Amino acid sequence: MVNHFLHISDYSKEELLGMLHLAKEIKAKFHGKESYKPFKDRSLAMIFAKPSARTRISFETGFTWMGGHALFLGPNDIGVGKREAIKDISRVVSRYNDMIMARLFDHEHMIELAKYADSPVVNGLTDYNHPCQIMADILTVWEHRGHLDDLKITYMGDGNNIVHSWLQLASKFPMHFVCCGPEGFEPDETTVKMVEDSGISTFELSHNPKSAVNGTDVIYTDVWASMGQKDEVEAREKLFADFQVNEKLMDSTGKETLFMHCLPAERGREVTDGVMEADYSIVFDEAENRMHAQNAIMVSLIEN
Ligand code: CP
Ligand code: NVA
Repeated sequence: MVNHFLHISDYSKEELLGMLHLAKEIKAKFHGKESYKPFKDRSLAMIFAKPSARTRISFETGFTWMGGHALFLGPNDIGVGKREAIKDISRVVSRYNDMIMARLFDHEHMIELAKYADSPVVNGLTDYNHPCQIMADILTVWEHRGHLDDLKITYMGDGNNIVHSWLQLASKFPMHFVCCGPEGFEPDETTVKMVEDSGISTFELSHNPKSAVNGTDVIYTDVWASMGQKDEVEAREKLFADFQVNEKLMDSTGKETLFMHCLPAERGREVTDGVMEADYSIVFDEAENRMHAQNAIMVSLIEN
């Protein structure tokens, strides 16, 4: 059977920790300018149905640095689910390439792509989740705090794909995860239930920013309207206004709190310019770690 990386919750805590340790080792090699070529003579097909900066750049740069060749296939190249059946694309692309990374709208399309692929598929975001991002996020928290014990993460905003991957992580790693946003924008109930049933972490749904951030280690936010919802930006601006991460909120936690954002950020909407630029903002370490976390994920997929 082919291994894929589609959901964090498909892996055990030990496997995830193994990937994070490997990410730290690979990061040290990268910074030490060591030669590391596990993907020599291999190729990665990168299929994008949505725009991207970090995902495209980090996968392409990472795979190339590790000795391979990465091909960018944009929204007009493949037309996933439009030009031909996904199960056909899947088998064709995996005949040519050793690995596939895909960013798609419909999560079911990702599942189908993986089902028919003879090469490992890495999920580079769907409307439902973004597992590579949250692997990079937890690596970044680990680096900044030195441990992952007694972690409280408060997510402010829309209960979206980022939240679902955090919840899937919370079903493996113990934490107190709070999702705080306006009513009607809660995360998927089945995914919340996954955390509750796991008995590993505490999940709290909040509509009150002040109490949600009390004693938190991290305040995390994301855009209020995700890719595919940009026509809702103005309507959402009013609904989400009370959930903006600003200096006042960051200063009200009663603790030294880190600020995180998966990026791209819409400065002045979900986060102020001042918070993005503050010393407690670790958004660029987080963005850098996308590459190291993904490199470790890809190496783990070919080794197992
Ligand atoms: N965080 C993230 O996935 O960024 P891009 O959309 O730019 O790839
Ligand atoms: N929730 C955002 C994440 C971008 C990395 C989106 O899907 O657009």
